[in-house]
Amino acid sequence: MKIIIASHNIHKMEEMKVMLKNLSVDVITLDNFPEIGEIPETGKTLEENALLKARIVNEITGLPAIGDDTGLEVDALKGAPGVYSARYAGENVSYEENVNKLLKEMEFIKEESRTARFRTVTTFVDGDDLITAEGTIEGIITKTPKGVNGFGYDPVFYIPKTKCTFAELSTEEKNRISHRGLALQKLCKFLFAHWSTNKTIGE
Ligand code: IMP
Repeated sequence: MKIIIASHNIHKMEEMKVMLKNLSVDVITLDNFPEIGEIPETGKTLEENALLKARIVNEITGLPAIGDDTGLEVDALKGAPGVYSARYAGENVSYEENVNKLLKEMEFIKEESRTARFRTVTTFVDGDDLITAEGTIEGIITKTPKGVNGFGYDPVFYIPKTKCTFAELSTEEKNRISHRGLALQKLCKFLFAHWSTNKTIGE
C-alpha cells in the first residue's frame, strides 16, 4: 500500500521518508502529483494546518495522507514566530532572511532568556480515519548561526543535550531527537495499532 506525504518541501520529505521506512509501506510525495501546487497554510494553529494539508491531499489523490506543520516557539517573543515560522520575514522569503530577522529581534535578549522549542503536529487522514501526534524539542536560540546541515532555523537552534545546533547534526541524528522525528515515531506507533485492529484500512 501507499502513503502520500502532503509536502513539496524536499528537506522535510527526505527526513520523513527515512522515518517512515519502518512502516513497510510505499511512501510517495507530492512530487508524484505536480498538479497539486503549494497548499496555502490558512489555519491559525499547527493542528489546523496539518489537518487541512492531509485532508486536501487525501481527497484529491484518494491515498492515505500525512500532513504536518511545524513552528518555532520562542519564549522571549511570546511564542513567535510559531505558526508563522515560514513567513516570519515576509511572504516567499529565504530561510536565511527568517533567521536574520529572528536574530535581530533577539539582539538584546540575554542567554538565559533565549529558550525556545520546535513543535510539530502530524496528522494522518484516510477518509474518515484521522490520527494526530505531536512532538517537541526544547532548545536555545544562539546569537550567531552554526553548522551547515538541515534547513530553516537549524543553524540557530542549540540543543543542550547534544551540545550543538541542529545544523551540526546528521539527518539520522536529528531524526532521532527532533520535534518531527518524535511526532512521526508516535504517529507510526498509532498507525501500527490502527492497522492491526482494522485490517481493511489501506489494503
Ligand atoms: P512547515 O510549515 O512545517 O514547513 O514549517 C514552517 C517553517 O518552520 C519552515 O519554513 C522552516 O523555516 C521552519 N522549520 C520547520 N521544520 C524545521 C526544522 O526541522 N528545522 C528548522 N526549521 C524548521
